[in-house]
Amino acid sequence: MSDKELIKHALKAQKLAIAPYSNYKVGAAILSEDKEITIGFNIESKAYPTTICAERVAIFSALTKEKKKFISLAVVTDNQGTPCGSCRQIIHEYAGDIKILIADNKNNYYETTTNNLLPNPFG
Ligand code: THU
Repeated sequence: MSDKELIKHALKAQKLAIAPYSNYKVGAAILSEDKEITIGFNIESKAYPTTICAERVAIFSALTKEKKKFISLAVVTDNQGTPCGSCRQIIHEYAGDIKILIADNKNNYYETTTNNLLPNPFG
């Protein structure tokens, strides 16, 4: 599974995002050790704080599929936005120090890691 392929899945997920309030669509795709991909997108709520981010939807959904070990995560936004603090914590707790691809929807991306995004994590 290439980085670009994983980003393609995240891009498809971004198109499914339900973000009528912020209009900021985020797609995520996480690759588990068994080479399966699980996607997520942000889902907003009328009660704004109840909204959930794309990264957490992807990870929580993968956990429901009993995925335990992860290799990489791609996140797509319109402007190469990075995961929020809550998502960084969940990535750290459930996926560990994995490769994270921060992409936009115009073929730009760069690679980072969980440890890079969340140094000195709570655990
Ligand atoms: N959002 C994500 O999906 N992931 C993040 O890491 C940051 C923010 C979503 C939440 C909300 O639906 C929208 O982006 C604007 O904050």
